[in-house]
Amino acid sequence: MKKTVRIWLLLAVTLIPAAGFAQKWEGVAETPQMGWNSWNKFASRLNEQLVRETADAMVSEGLLDAGYVYLNMDDCWHGPRDADGFITCDATKFPSGIKAVADYVHSKGLKFGIYSDAGRKTCAGFPGSFGHEYQDAIQYARWGVDYLKYDWCSSEDINPRGAYALMRDALREAGRPIFFSMCEWGSNEPWLWAAEVGHSWRTTGDIAAVFDARTRRSWENSVMTIVERNVGLRKYAGPGHWNDPDMLEVGNGMTVNEDRAHFTLWCMMASPLILGNDICNMTQETRDIILNKDVIAIDQDPLGVQGLRLKVEDSLQFWFKPLADGAWAFCLFNRGRTPVEYTVDWQTLCFTDTEVSGLSTEFDKKRYEIKNLWEKATKKKTKAVTTAKPLRVTVPGRDVVLYRLTPLQK
Ligand code: GLA
Repeated sequence: MKKTVRIWLLLAVTLIPAAGFAQKWEGVAETPQMGWNSWNKFASRLNEQLVRETADAMVSEGLLDAGYVYLNMDDCWHGPRDADGFITCDATKFPSGIKAVADYVHSKGLKFGIYSDAGRKTCAGFPGSFGHEYQDAIQYARWGVDYLKYDWCSSEDINPRGAYALMRDALREAGRPIFFSMCEWGSNEPWLWAAEVGHSWRTTGDIAAVFDARTRRSWENSVMTIVERNVGLRKYAGPGHWNDPDMLEVGNGMTVNEDRAHFTLWCMMASPLILGNDICNMTQETRDIILNKDVIAIDQDPLGVQGLRLKVEDSLQFWFKPLADGAWAFCLFNRGRTPVEYTVDWQTLCFTDTEVSGLSTEFDKKRYEIKNLWEKATKKKTKAVTTAKPLRVTVPGRDVVLYRLTPLQK
């Protein structure tokens, strides 16, 4: 046995008994994670060139500046395990090896993410981490990995809480802070037990670029199906532990209105913003959506409260998200296909978020300045628009209007 392997084995044997007491890494998920992931657009077409070009584009397109810091490789990067059981990469897809690719990503100021699975095989059939958790965590730390998405295929005989806690402990013991993104699709209600284990957990099966219709494959979900599952889970989310309604499909074939609504609802739900499109080839419409800093700021607000759906009137949904400093995000979402004209009477929207933040809108007592976050700032406004008067709006089909309401000083 090689000397280094002996040392690693010795380390693992010493550390495993303490594993039950390890804690997840703190301080890496104060706001929902932002970045890009290869799966939604590229699936098995992942390779080194794509990663390098995507890293370049994340910087040149201004995505890193906007907060998208993680560049995450999903399934299909793997080669076989070596003679000692350490995972390798597919040398044809990654001729320079993972360490060199991670170094390149880091040289751009980005962070680097990787993917594995708690079972024996990943969902695409590559080696999973089962039985190799500590070895894999050590390997990721050596490569300079900053983020692990951990999937749940081939897991039939595995206890979910144990499997995810085991990898949490392994990551902790490997010594490099790594964001732990749990991906067991909400199958075992992770929101009830995973705040101690991961930094985010998927709440549903996979997303598809379908807004509100049946999806082609049984495990895929439309944007609307996902919203309906995620909306009721807000009390489980908060700084350090987020509900993850899956990665974004903006730029992957829905209409611009649908993309805007999808992105906005993800921000209202304080969701991870992991882009899933080809960012080396984006339309201006896609850029305008994913780079809107005012809207991103709603998602990233430091209060860290997942927004709520206050009510639904026909096709119109009323969403609120309390923000730091007494502000609110207010979104009107039209699920129908035809535009809706509506007059917002603020007095009818006085309520208290009793479930999570305890905050009240108090439109009867307070005035707020209204900023429309999707309107291009073309017109010069002479006077601030406030909640002193009702607001007349038109919400296009399958689209949103989104406002930031900032309390005015008395
Ligand atoms: C599962 C996950 C997806 C993706 C694929 C990769 O379906 O939920 O997000 O990672 O596996 O095979």
